Amino acid sequence: MAATLKILSTALLLLTCAVGVTLSANRCPNCGSTTVPYPLSTGPTCGDQSYKIRCNASSLIFDTLNNSYPITSINPFNQRLVIRPASLVPNTCVTTDLPFEGVQLNNRLPFNVTSSNTIMFLNCTDSVLRSPLNCSSDGLCHTYVNDSSTAAACEAAPICCTFKAGGGATAYAIRVRESGCRAYTSFVNLQSDLPVNRWPEPGMELQWISPPEPLCGTQADCDWNSTCGPDPNSNGVRRCFCNSGLSWDPIDGICTKIITCQNPGGCGGSDRTALIAGLTAGLGTALFAAMIGFLLYKRHRRIIEAQERLRKEREEILNANNAGKAAKVFTGKEIKKATNNFSRDRILGAGGYGEVYKGILDDGTVVAVKCAKLGNTKGTDQVLNEVRILCQVNHRSLVGLLGCCVELEQPVMVYEYIENGNLLDHLQSLNPGDRGVLTWTRRLQIARDTAEGLAYLHSSAVPPIYHRDVKSSNILLDVKLNAKVSDFGLSRLAHTDMSHVSTCAQGTLGYLDPEYYRNYQLTDKSDVYSFGVVLLELLTSQKAIDFNRDPDDVNLAIYVKRMADEEKLIDVIDPMLKEKASALELDTMKALGFLALNCLEERRQNRPSMKEITEEIEYIICIAKGKAVES
Ligand SMILES: *[C@@H]1O[C@H](CO)[C@@H](O)[C@H](O)[C@H]1NC(C)=O
Ligand SMILES: *[C@@H]1O[C@H](CO)[C@@H](O)[C@H](O)[C@H]1NC(C)=O
Ligand SMILES: *[C@@H]1O[C@H](CO)[C@@H](O)[C@H](O)[C@H]1NC(C)=O
Ligand SMILES: *[C@@H]1O[C@H](CO)[C@@H](O)[C@H](O)[C@H]1NC(C)=O
Ligand SMILES: *[C@@H]1O[C@H](CO)[C@@H](O)[C@H](O)[C@H]1NC(C)=O
Ligand SMILES: *[C@@H]1O[C@H](CO)[C@@H](O)[C@H](O)[C@H]1NC(C)=O
Ligand SMILES: *[C@@H]1O[C@H](CO)[C@@H](O)[C@H](O)[C@H]1NC(C)=O
Repeated sequence: MAATLKILSTALLLLTCAVGVTLSANRCPNCGSTTVPYPLSTGPTCGDQSYKIRCNASSLIFDTLNNSYPITSINPFNQRLVIRPASLVPNTCVTTDLPFEGVQLNNRLPFNVTSSNTIMFLNCTDSVLRSPLNCSSDGLCHTYVNDSSTAAACEAAPICCTFKAGGGATAYAIRVRESGCRAYTSFVNLQSDLPVNRWPEPGMELQWISPPEPLCGTQADCDWNSTCGPDPNSNGVRRCFCNSGLSWDPIDGICTKIITCQNPGGCGGSDRTALIAGLTAGLGTALFAAMIGFLLYKRHRRIIEAQERLRKEREEILNANNAGKAAKVFTGKEIKKATNNFSRDRILGAGGYGEVYKGILDDGTVVAVKCAKLGNTKGTDQVLNEVRILCQVNHRSLVGLLGCCVELEQPVMVYEYIENGNLLDHLQSLNPGDRGVLTWTRRLQIARDTAEGLAYLHSSAVPPIYHRDVKSSNILLDVKLNAKVSDFGLSRLAHTDMSHVSTCAQGTLGYLDPEYYRNYQLTDKSDVYSFGVVLLELLTSQKAIDFNRDPDDVNLAIYVKRMADEEKLIDVIDPMLKEKASALELDTMKALGFLALNCLEERRQNRPSMKEITEEIEYIICIAKGKAVES
């Protein structure tokens, strides 16, 4: 170990130093008193033409797609420049660049917005509340509005949000618009603990990508230190490549000598460090092992006690009138054998409510074994009763439940094993074939089957079973692409009737009923909401949450709602579906879109029931089939 460390640190100490030469062939002249570093270009004969900025009346200006912003500083060493964001229209909380939708960089140019910017989005509509923007009332933006005289007009606009730019869609745009936020400002490297009057001037930092070697037509375009040759990375393009012994310095835009120097300090001390590290690790391991031992012992005792109790109660389950299909009651021994004693290499995944193992029963049947994660909120008898109810649930659109085991510390459910993956994987697969098999007809069938499965859950038991975690990754597709809903009902095992306010969020971000945030209750209509999101995924092939969309569009439900409000629903439909669709099929796509939006109604009472949804989809399928007969 010490030897490896030594080699590693030696390697780190071998520093490559490049020593530049002052002459910079192609730098643009100063703009007023401001230096214009390479590769920024203020004219056709200097700099690199991909890095155009403007020099107007001794001031540098950065042009975006539809607007211009003054450049306030440039740092060539980290390739960054700062522009001054638009100001507010006097006495309003609307930025002057609202008509251009804020800062929109051309994403084909080598500039992007850095993550050093803290953006204050001002005067927003409530549609942004379910986005990654922080709009909380103790957020930084509210402090800013309260304490800054510049943004005084924004005090009249209640929704104001803070956001760290950079990454995904915000790499190229800080967007404002009528249906989102109507104003913004930005601060570079903001230290949020400072009082607002000590904040820097507003600024937005952009970064440019290091430029490649300059373009050339012939050798005459290059200096003595470089040779005009074909660019191996792009066809037909020629560049001035540095002669041997020299290397391209993108900061100065010249060829410089490479000098490799070895750090003379040597590697003393590293052996000792390794030794100390080894010792510490050794001590830690011993302590750790003792702790694990103790925990294992306690756990073992708990298991034995629980088993005793459970064995008795298991009798009751067996005796209860199990009216539905006869689900098998597995013994703990059978389950352990099937899962190779819950061996880690058998883990198929961790569902919302516990781990799932691949199991092989004695007769060779492959099964999925799901261990329910238990909260502390339910008594054993309640848990057993829930298990009994779940054991009777059986529908062709639900993943088949083969049986249960209540002998182990946690209740275990045994399901049929479905190998073909889930809907999310299919829709998001990089392999176009996987998405291709999901034709429009197939997607409608998946929607119908899922709806039927959920409708059945809602009506099969008293009290009803709510899925509570409907999402595309919980919809499994068998080899014939039939949909089977999985992971249902287990939440019942872990939570009480919600008479207490649960702070532990249920469900999955992007699918969660917004009313849950108000009253912490999930109902059948919460499943309807989540199902609405699944319908949108089927329609758009986009993810429920996608940080590559604009910040206020990250949430698919909100994004599609906005597009529908702007009468652009058709634009969000998966292009692969639209490509060959007839006018009639397009109509059915829109119809499904509107059904989805119905499921996504804010107020629960306005959402249809799962049963009504099933009928609606059935009807859409009929119309779509009508087309099949015609053609
Ligand atoms: C250039 O600067 C002049 C003087 O400051 C100003 O009036 C003009 O609008 C500027 N032009 C552009 C295109 O920004
Ligand atoms: C917020 O934006 C709306 C829409 O552009 C505008 O009408 C309103 O005046 C703005 N609010 C304030 C306080 O300026
Ligand atoms: C920006 O300009 C382009 C054409 O130059 C135009 O098509 C587009 O609509 C403009 N966008 C905005 C938001 O003004
Ligand atoms: C929002 O920002 C405030 C203040 O910085 C912070 O206390 C709060 O936890 C943030 N909320 C979220 C949801 O990130
Ligand atoms: C708003 O500003 C006033 C003084 O300008 C201050 O007394 C008050 O505490 C501030 N409120 C908040 C919520 O920051
Ligand atoms: C912006 O450009 C820089 C320089 O090429 C790059 O390192 C960074 O990853 C880019 N950021 C984003 C969000 O694209
Ligand atoms: C070529 O490189 C040498 C060594 O780095 C330097 O002295 C010379 O100025 C360079 N010439 C040009 C035209 O850049």
